Amino acid sequence: MAKLTVRLEDKLATISPMLYGHFAEHLGRCIYEGFWVGEDSPIPNTRGIRNDTVAAMRKLRAPVIRWPGGCFADDYHWRDGIGPRDARPRRMNIWWHAEESNQFGTHEFIDLCRQIDAAPYICLNVGSGTPEEAAAWVEYCNCAGNTERSALRACNGGSDPFSVRFWGVGNENWGCGGHFAPDDYAREYRRFATYLRGRSSSPIELIACGHTTPDWNRKFLETLGNLHWMDHLSIHRYYNCGHAVEFTDTEYYNLYPRALQVEADIAEAATAIRLYNRTGRRIGVIVDEWGVWHPEARGDSGLYQRNTLRDALVAAAVFDVFNRHADVVTMANIAQTLNVLQCVAQTEGDKMWLTPTYHAFDLYKEHMGNDSVRVELDEVGTVEARAGDGRPVQQPTVSASASLDPTGREAILTLQNLHLTEPCECGIRLKGGKVEKVTAKILTARDVRANNGPDAPNKVRPKSFGIAAKGSVLRTTLPPHSLVSARVKLL
Ligand code: AHR
Repeated sequence: MAKLTVRLEDKLATISPMLYGHFAEHLGRCIYEGFWVGEDSPIPNTRGIRNDTVAAMRKLRAPVIRWPGGCFADDYHWRDGIGPRDARPRRMNIWWHAEESNQFGTHEFIDLCRQIDAAPYICLNVGSGTPEEAAAWVEYCNCAGNTERSALRACNGGSDPFSVRFWGVGNENWGCGGHFAPDDYAREYRRFATYLRGRSSSPIELIACGHTTPDWNRKFLETLGNLHWMDHLSIHRYYNCGHAVEFTDTEYYNLYPRALQVEADIAEAATAIRLYNRTGRRIGVIVDEWGVWHPEARGDSGLYQRNTLRDALVAAAVFDVFNRHADVVTMANIAQTLNVLQCVAQTEGDKMWLTPTYHAFDLYKEHMGNDSVRVELDEVGTVEARAGDGRPVQQPTVSASASLDPTGREAILTLQNLHLTEPCECGIRLKGGKVEKVTAKILTARDVRANNGPDAPNKVRPKSFGIAAKGSVLRTTLPPHSLVSARVKLL
């Protein structure tokens, strides 16, 4: 029997809704067909943006969308994507072996965010752009005055400023974003950052590009000197193990430590920030690309992959990491929202279906804005797995996180039994609260390789689940490879 303690009075930090964010790049069918179908499309749309995917994202209460890339961002020139659509230039999309029609540009992105009610996060072009181009984009979006650029925005249909708060100063600048050495990027970053804040009439937050190689972050921060120039440091974590669907049991278990490497990435980035931050301000860690990237979704294949229950369970374990480190993680964005990589929904013509990962987001969304509280795994089983570097790891078979809503009257508990074949009987003691009522949902399927598709869109979806409660103790038996989210009303 597994024993867990949830310490309701041990608040770790508020879980920013931004931890449940998204990333949508001009890549394959993510933007085009996923979100943008054009006003003349027979697919129901609002000003060219399809209604079904927007409705799905609204239901998730998607808090933020990062755009336009990814690698695409450092070769994107925003002026190509404004003004009358039929006059916009066609360009090459060098990273993703395609042509870019520029039908979806800044105004369409802002419209999309407004339809979803998500905050826009724009990634600027450092690799092939200039500080002038970047600063002009900030001014075009955010200037409330009467400058030539704000007048142009109004003329293109944006009379009110877009008030974009989050601006990334490049993407993976150690790679596709210009192949900078960390000190060179620091000097370039400072030059760009100098001209950005002054162009906005509303507060903006600047995101510097970091790396999962610790030396890179430290060298970058050291050279930057005064961290006043930045508000967040971003890192990316992708992982895989075996085929998307035809994976072995061993590969199933091995995916966990590879994904959970993100916990060490976050700790390392936070340590580097602590070492150099003399501003007295909180500088956060943003994981603005993360998820499973299966080996068959490579190169010019379009980065399409099947998304099974395994992917959703592993994503939930990553959410537990984000919840636990809500004191330093200020945003996270799964790669990528629609159709490509670990998407939450897929489309084919006028059909749309939700992936198991969507349902993991749905079960975890209740944590958004709550206080993360400490969960102790007092007694849980383990399985042997191997990390990405081949190191053996004793992987606990239970992953969990919990939060308390701002009134202190309701707790959210998310927990999974990742064991492939054995159910897990769990006793969960709530310290600092007694249960009035508990309702729960479960995400599981007979086969962990189960996935949804156009002809079977609901093979994997949440169902209601029973949890017994007495006093301050919850008891339940989690089926193998299952994820549960419980809403616990407290007395
Ligand atoms: O998400 C796909 C790509 O992965 C992004 O464009 C890039 O930033 C990362 O390497």
